[in-house]
Parts: sequence; structure tokens; C-alpha cells
Amino acid sequence: MRIRILGSGAGGGFPQWNCNCANCRAVRARAPGFTPRTQSSLAVSADGANWVLLNASPDLREQIAAAPALAPAEGDPVRASPIKAVALTNGDVDHVAGLLNLREAQPFSVYAADRVLQALAANPIFTILQAQLVPRNELHMDEATPLTGAGVDLGLSVRAFPVPGKIALYLEDQNAPNFGTSAGDTLGLEVIETKTGKSFFYIPGCAKIDASLANRLRGAALVFFDGTLFHENEMIEQGLMGKTGSRMGHVNMSGEDGSMAGFAPLDVARKIYVHINNSNPVLDANSTQRAAVQAAGWEVGADGMEVTL
Ligand code: MLT
Ligand code: MN
Ligand code: ZN
Repeated sequence: MRIRILGSGAGGGFPQWNCNCANCRAVRARAPGFTPRTQSSLAVSADGANWVLLNASPDLREQIAAAPALAPAEGDPVRASPIKAVALTNGDVDHVAGLLNLREAQPFSVYAADRVLQALAANPIFTILQAQLVPRNELHMDEATPLTGAGVDLGLSVRAFPVPGKIALYLEDQNAPNFGTSAGDTLGLEVIETKTGKSFFYIPGCAKIDASLANRLRGAALVFFDGTLFHENEMIEQGLMGKTGSRMGHVNMSGEDGSMAGFAPLDVARKIYVHINNSNPVLDANSTQRAAVQAAGWEVGADGMEVTL
């Protein structure tokens, strides 16, 4: 199974268009140790020819352009794409807006939880993906769903499961508990290769490593995990936004309840941070925070990085 990080950044990317924080200034200036990042997405293939995207970011056009395997192959018909399916972990803008890049009457399948399918259905702009060409399939929790698209069996299935999180920002209800969030608003995905049974986890948004998630991940071969913030208060401290990590539905890397501590006893063979916000000090390859996550056995995901499982 081949896995490519299309985008390792969080919503906004790195640098973010309107951000003048120290990290964004440094990456714009091409300072040593800083690498630009597009928004949050992976691509996965069992056969190297047919691919599923895990989330579709607003940067999808440039992500496809940077990945030769995602271009039409020589000898393909005049309109063709190796992208046969898209599976979504939530309804956030950074994870669904890229569906609009996949218009132009190309068949593929969309997979998402009912709550996310409802959010798409409520936005008429997505009808540009005609229903007869782009079927929308519900992911049922804890069931392995075989992925097919455009008449092709991808040789992969996904098992979706709810993780602690938050409803998409544009759907928040200020008067409801946890802003109207319910189960299915934030998913983790386990992607399983049919032929070998090998699997990995993709969890780009997660508010807490609870016992259920810890049990699921224990002993995993590979996990791509929410690396939004290093510290709970880093966005407030940098004057960027008055929200903590918890308020945004993202667990932090550091601290007692953070992902480094949460994963420490889980015996995960390879763990890679993705969905890294531009405020995160690990984006500086020479920072003490980068050294700390590496010492804890983590890799910091980068655009174009590929893993074979
Ligand atoms: C998030 O990951 O918290 C969202 O992408 C925020 C947003 O929609 O801007
Ligand atoms: Mn996001
Ligand atoms: Zn910034």
C-alpha cells in the first residue's frame, strides 16, 4: 500500500494568506528550517494506479500537479483520472472544499459519515458534482467499507470510527452543548489493504485521546495524527486568535493530556503528525519543540512524503 501526504498543513496552510506570525514570516522569507505546507489531505493506493483521497483540501489542484501518480496516465482516454474515490473525516472547509476541484464531469465516489453528507447536501454548490457521476456513500461506524469508484475496486476498505472532536466551524450552534457537535462529526479512518490485511490510521482532527481511541491504536503499524498545535494556548499567546486548542477541537502535542503523552504507552510503530497549524513551533526544524517530538518518536509530516506499508 502506498500512502502520500498531499498536504501536511492545517486549515489556512503554511504560510496562511493573511498571517504575519513569526512562522509564516519565516517560511515566506525561505528561512532555513521552514518548509511550506498545503492543507490537510492524504492519497492512498493499493495498486499504484488507482487512488483514494482522504479529505479533499482547497489546495487539491496544486497537490495533484505535484504528484505524477495522480495525473492521467499515458494511453488513458482524453478525460481520465487515477483518483477514484474521496473519503472524508469531517465537514471542515479544509477537508471538503477540494471536492470542487474535482468537477469537470469525472466519475468517482465520495464516502463520509451521514452528518458530513448532510452538510454537503445542504450546500448546493456541491451539486456541481452530478449525482449520477459522483455517488455519495455513507460510512457506517465501525464497519469495514470496501472502496470502489468509477467502476474500479480499489483493493482497500475503510473502517470509520468517531473520535472526540467538534462540528465544523461554519455549523457551530453557539447555544448548544459543545456547539451542536454529535457523534460522526469527526471521524478517524482505518484504511485496510484487502490483499494483505495491512492497515493504518488517519486521524487529522481529534480533541482527546480517550480510552476507546487508545485501545484501538495500541500496536498499530502506522498512524497519521492531529498535529495542529504544540501548546493549548499558542494561538492566543501569539495574538492570532482567541481560541485554545480544545475550543477548536484539537488535542495538543505537549502536556499531560497531549498526543505525545497519550501515544507513549501505545506501541505504535510509526507515528506521523499531519494537519499542523502555522502557529506550531515544530514547523521550525531547528526548534526545541521539533527536537522534543522527535525524541518522543514522532515524525513531522511534510507535503510529498510517501510511506509504503
Ligand atoms: C479545524 O481544523 O479546526 C478547521 O479546519 C478550522 C476551520 O474550518 O477553519
Ligand atoms: Mn482543519
Ligand atoms: Zn502564521
